[in-house]
Amino acid sequence: VVRALFLGFGHVGRRLAEILTRRERYPGLAALDLSVVAITTGRHGALANPSGIDLASALRAFDPEHLDHPDRTALASLDAVRGLDYDVLVEMTPLAIRARGEPAITHVREALLRGRHVVTCNKGPVAWAYEPLARLARERGCAFLFESTVMDGAPVFNLARHGLRGDTIERLAGILNSTTNVVLCALEEGLTLDEALARARALGVAEADPSDDLEGWDAAVKVAALGNVLLGGPLLPEEVERESLASVPPERVREAAARGRRIKMDCEAWREGGRLRGRVAARELPLDDPFALVAGTGSILRLTTALLGKLSLVEENPDLTTTAYGVLSDLLSLPGPPR
Ligand SMILES: NC(=O)c1ccc[n+]([C@@H]2O[C@H](COP(=O)([O-])OP(=O)(O)OC[C@H]3O[C@@H](n4cnc5c(N)ncnc54)[C@H](OP(=O)(O)O)[C@@H]3O)[C@@H](O)[C@H]2O)c1
Repeated sequence: VVRALFLGFGHVGRRLAEILTRRERYPGLAALDLSVVAITTGRHGALANPSGIDLASALRAFDPEHLDHPDRTALASLDAVRGLDYDVLVEMTPLAIRARGEPAITHVREALLRGRHVVTCNKGPVAWAYEPLARLARERGCAFLFESTVMDGAPVFNLARHGLRGDTIERLAGILNSTTNVVLCALEEGLTLDEALARARALGVAEADPSDDLEGWDAAVKVAALGNVLLGGPLLPEEVERESLASVPPERVREAAARGRRIKMDCEAWREGGRLRGRVAARELPLDDPFALVAGTGSILRLTTALLGKLSLVEENPDLTTTAYGVLSDLLSLPGPPR
């Protein structure tokens, strides 16, 4: 049995727990023998039980009327990472752009230092600290996996790791931010920016404060994560050129549509003059471009490789289950206990 420590029990953590409580519906998960020994949150306390927490009751335990769960503890996240006995840290805390990926980077580093595997859906550690964390994981013989950090659970990193042996990725491009894509589709339909943002919020993809999405920060963090892993890095989010969607007037979107063209936020990374470059920018595309066909919350990633040529991965209508699946696929990829 793999003993997991969950940090964060929000949208992704809860969906993961829901899937695990209904495991019999998913024959592909039969090989996953997982016991969750602790769950910590930011402001809602923690649960811990070395014999394994009952996940159905854990899903109710953070409601105000159910705070009397028998596994309740005052354990803080970093103390859990440093002190508890577990095989894999599952990092599901929020992306902290201003704090440049912390405290998630510290959580990941401390777990690896103890010889524990790490699975994360938080892109901060991959964007700001990939190289040192990957090196530490290699030194300690641990897995450091992060499939859900970009394109939810679509196998982006697994594709590169297992499906492109002997090839070299030279360039990547994609539509990687749901909020800006939903907003652009809505503007094209004639909605105002506020109405377009309300639609993105109603779909659950935009935060109350969507500025990180609109200003291209979320996309820049994804470009850095992809650049670090697929193009050999290093690329920091701050080094990715960003164009804000706020600088694209709604009239420009509608005027392009009237000419049979479509504006999309394009994310790119490529090697130039010995260094890695990244860019998030609005681009006008013909309607038959595969990027122009990516609607709503969908996403696309095109890899340009030395031998296979151009290969694209398209994701349609992802939801929380898609993200939780990425975490599950990482958990199923873990080697045996490293210690
Ligand atoms: N939602 C998606 O579709 C999606 C897709 C791909 C990747 N991701 C990434 O997955 C991660 C989780 O996303 P989410 O949507 O589940 O976020 P969320 O709903 O905001 O939940 C975050 C959880 O982390 C907890 N938390 C905050 N600080 C913590 C700390 N220091 N230690 C332990 N727990 C802490 C929060 O607890 P409190 O509520 O008590 O503060 C909450 O339980 C993020 O990094 C996000 O970027 C999400």
